[in-house]
Amino acid sequence: MQHHSPPLSGPAHPTSTSEGYSGPRRGLPAFPADYGGERRLRLSDNTARRCSGRGGRHSGQCPGSSAPLRLQGPRFSRAREAEGTAPLSGRGETGRNGPGQGPGRAGSGRGGAERSGSGAMLAALAAVWSLLAASFLAALLLLLRRAPAPRPGRAGLVIAGLFQDLIRYGKTKRGCGQLPGWLRLLQVPKRWFTHFYVVSVLWNGFLLISLFRAEFLGESLPSWIQDMHHALGRDSQSKDTDSEHFSALLVLLLLWLHSCRRLAECLWTSVFSSGVIHIVQYCFGLGYYIAVGSTVLCQVPTNVRNGKKLSVQICWYHIIGVMVYIWASLHQHRCLAILANLRKSRSGKVVSLSHSVPFGDWFESVSCPHYFAELLIYVSMAITLGMHNVTWWCVVMYVLFNQALAAVLCHEFYQKNFSSYPKHRKAFIPLVF
Ligand SMILES: NC(=O)c1ccc[n+]([C@@H]2O[C@H](COP(=O)([O-])OP(=O)(O)OC[C@H]3O[C@@H](n4cnc5c(N)ncnc54)[C@H](OP(=O)(O)O)[C@@H]3O)[C@@H](O)[C@H]2O)c1
Repeated sequence: MQHHSPPLSGPAHPTSTSEGYSGPRRGLPAFPADYGGERRLRLSDNTARRCSGRGGRHSGQCPGSSAPLRLQGPRFSRAREAEGTAPLSGRGETGRNGPGQGPGRAGSGRGGAERSGSGAMLAALAAVWSLLAASFLAALLLLLRRAPAPRPGRAGLVIAGLFQDLIRYGKTKRGCGQLPGWLRLLQVPKRWFTHFYVVSVLWNGFLLISLFRAEFLGESLPSWIQDMHHALGRDSQSKDTDSEHFSALLVLLLLWLHSCRRLAECLWTSVFSSGVIHIVQYCFGLGYYIAVGSTVLCQVPTNVRNGKKLSVQICWYHIIGVMVYIWASLHQHRCLAILANLRKSRSGKVVSLSHSVPFGDWFESVSCPHYFAELLIYVSMAITLGMHNVTWWCVVMYVLFNQALAAVLCHEFYQKNFSSYPKHRKAFIPLVF
């Protein structure tokens, strides 16, 4: 979903002394989902989709018009005729047929319904990310609200316990003494974070290879990916450029490299304690990396290249995006190494599994610089996509509120357990929050 294109229609310190949290707080957030859906003309049908990527049809620019021009290959035309719809002429169909020009007219008949459906699916994808962002914002506001909570009844206690159980993990979960026993059964080791990155490396690596082959070798995406892509992806637009195709490929590569680095850190850098996460958080994390890679794939048209090979066009935003990505990734790695070293001796041997106060690098400014770096990594991908991709900004919003919530809990943990904790440190964003 691109907004630039006009629519055709409409060192270590002592370990902790006490832990815990002050109980649930109330508040009702509101998150304005910044989505501007666009209806775009789509002339393709399932048959055409099968033809795509095999040279079955071609897109181009109609002279004097911003509407996409598609020259239909013989196989596609025959299929349209067989279905009883008007054959698309070899001269091309602009998608802006005048009134009375038959079933190809924008917004009319089955084609119109399909076009609306495609727009609705695009809107749904952005809406899902916005909804996730809104949920984490709501949880953050509930947490930040300082009003004293009324004395809860038994049901209220269970709901409050469940809420705390679902927003906390690892060190910030410890001290949740009022959790019912059955809730504690639904926890898995936090070191299982590793599985998220295994899934991400495999899934996003597969998507990356598939997209690479489609873009550079003119091959089709696997049919089941085409189906998913067709349901959630966007259609070809007159303004599709090689740089946009390259942007999506580059972002998928950055996402995959990020997952590889995080997997390596989980395996060889980080030292995990006996901390836990809720099974819901675990399942969510597994699904997250599948969803985020699929979202990138949906930023290229469903027919990808129509058999045409990509000519690489590097733009200024690709360079800036990659530079921000490298800078944020380096700092994230350094901060995770600082956390790991808190538990190691000078020789690198693990000597403790307790939590201490970290110092150095961005820890001098914030309690959770690795979360801030995570946000910057997703912002760098938004830059790489050209900065106008609304769906990706919804993903960035999700990461912002998700990491802000975790950072607030972590900051609270440090302040409660370390009386000499540096007062100037913010939780998440240097000097701001
Ligand atoms: N994109 C997303 O939606 C998303 C969501 C979550 C996380 N992440 C990213 O994943 C990375 C890890 O996140 P995380 O929440 O696991 O970070 P974390 O809670 O800070 O844990 C990172 C590692 O450091 C250890 N650690 C934490 N605080 C410590 C302390 N005070 N003293 C000693 N060791 C300490 C942890 O051990 P234990 O916790 O086992 O004790 C763990 O091994 C981050 O870069 C984050 O941005 C991304």
